[in-house]
Amino acid sequence: MSVDGILAAGAVGVVGAGYVGLATATGFCHLGHRVVAVDRDTTRIDRLRSGHSDLTEPGLDSVLQSGLDSGRLTLSTDFAELSRCEAVFICVPTPVDGAGHSDLSAVFDVIGKLIRIGGDICIVVIKSTVPVGTASRAERLLRPSAMAVVSNPEFLRESHIVTDFLDPDRIVIGDSDRVAGDRIAALYRGIEAPLERVSLESAELAKHASNAFLATKLSFVNELAALCERTGADIREVTAAMAHDHRIGEAFLSPGPGWGGSCLPKDARALLHSGREAGIELGVLDAAVAANTGATGRVIDTVRRGVTGSAQGNLHGRRIALLGLAFKAGTGDLRFSPALDICRSLIDEGATVAAYDPAIPQPVAGLPDEMELVDDPLLAAKDAAAVIVATEWPEFTELDWAAIADVADDPVVIDTRTFLDPGQLSRCGIRLYSNGIAPTGVLHPTSSW
Ligand code: UDX
Repeated sequence: MSVDGILAAGAVGVVGAGYVGLATATGFCHLGHRVVAVDRDTTRIDRLRSGHSDLTEPGLDSVLQSGLDSGRLTLSTDFAELSRCEAVFICVPTPVDGAGHSDLSAVFDVIGKLIRIGGDICIVVIKSTVPVGTASRAERLLRPSAMAVVSNPEFLRESHIVTDFLDPDRIVIGDSDRVAGDRIAALYRGIEAPLERVSLESAELAKHASNAFLATKLSFVNELAALCERTGADIREVTAAMAHDHRIGEAFLSPGPGWGGSCLPKDARALLHSGREAGIELGVLDAAVAANTGATGRVIDTVRRGVTGSAQGNLHGRRIALLGLAFKAGTGDLRFSPALDICRSLIDEGATVAAYDPAIPQPVAGLPDEMELVDDPLLAAKDAAAVIVATEWPEFTELDWAAIADVADDPVVIDTRTFLDPGQLSRCGIRLYSNGIAPTGVLHPTSSW
């Protein structure tokens, strides 16, 4: 079959209708392919059929609706529908435990089902993030069925999944069967992006390595922020100067309360695990993960200093406002959010915490029971001894900080993201601690950011 064969022939199958599966299904549909997306969750599929994804993803509902309107997108709970697909993309979760071991049961469960279904399926594409060696294992399992395996990792950022699928930095296709790889590459025709054709192992490692590298970059920046505070430098000025060097680049240089989310922490642990399995020490990554674990403590020390005057001070009985709970702006996702670690540490110290996040108007699973969730930043700040800004929501720069200063209790504001305007807050009489900026006029402060 020619490279274009698959475009003219069968449909594209997608298993799993979460972030990755939906971006893949709607993206391929947008590119003109017929797509069958399958998920075992009946409620989710029913909701999707009505044109609603329930994900905070710009553009997703629109591409979903146009896919449905075009008649090219089928959503189903029936795996047998995949029998008319030539290529099936596996987009199911691969959770990683504390030791970095990936649970691949969902991936291999799907592969077992595809073998039983058979039909037109001739290529199984692993898009789920998996440790190196998984695709080869799948190949061995699939050999009797003559289905080929391709590794096609995703690099989608939450809150950008639609644009990241249709306008990616790169497309990575790993294969040991060139024709199968050609056919998957042909599905992406219409997208302008560098195409990396590599081995199965390289594709798998490229995904883990990319996220682990980003995590390492951030841990470096966060440690640098601590040094800036101690020495009187300003992290914004330091990173701006660094960013002009094309070898460094300007992305992923903003300090924060630690990196989180559903991917970076998981992928960093999984890569460390792969290293251990292979007998290769990944010391740099190990240190980056350890540094991130310490990031919450640095925020709490700063709160103690701001509220009590000492990094050893006691926060028992103090009321603290937490602005932002999501792991980053643009999403309501709480998975591995540093804001939650901060919240739990404060509660463990006997502080009371009132939190506000624009994407989390109602209590949801995963929030600490003792935490009070409010629907207005002013309510969170009322009588608070400290206001911690943990997520870089743009609306926080527009807050009525004078009103916050009025309702709070001589507050200190801790800007973990270094994105608030120091001048604006100081005009409101607020003492501001910005991550990576020494308090004005103070050289060699004892702050422990
Ligand atoms: C990440 C990868 O970027 C994406 O390619 C992969 O497919 C999934 O994992 P995501 O989890 O959506 O995407 O988050 P991302 O935008 O990368 O941010 C990760 C963490 O780093 C967040 O906690 C964020 O707040 C933090 N971050 C990011 C910073 O602290 N500073 C920065 O400059 C950038």
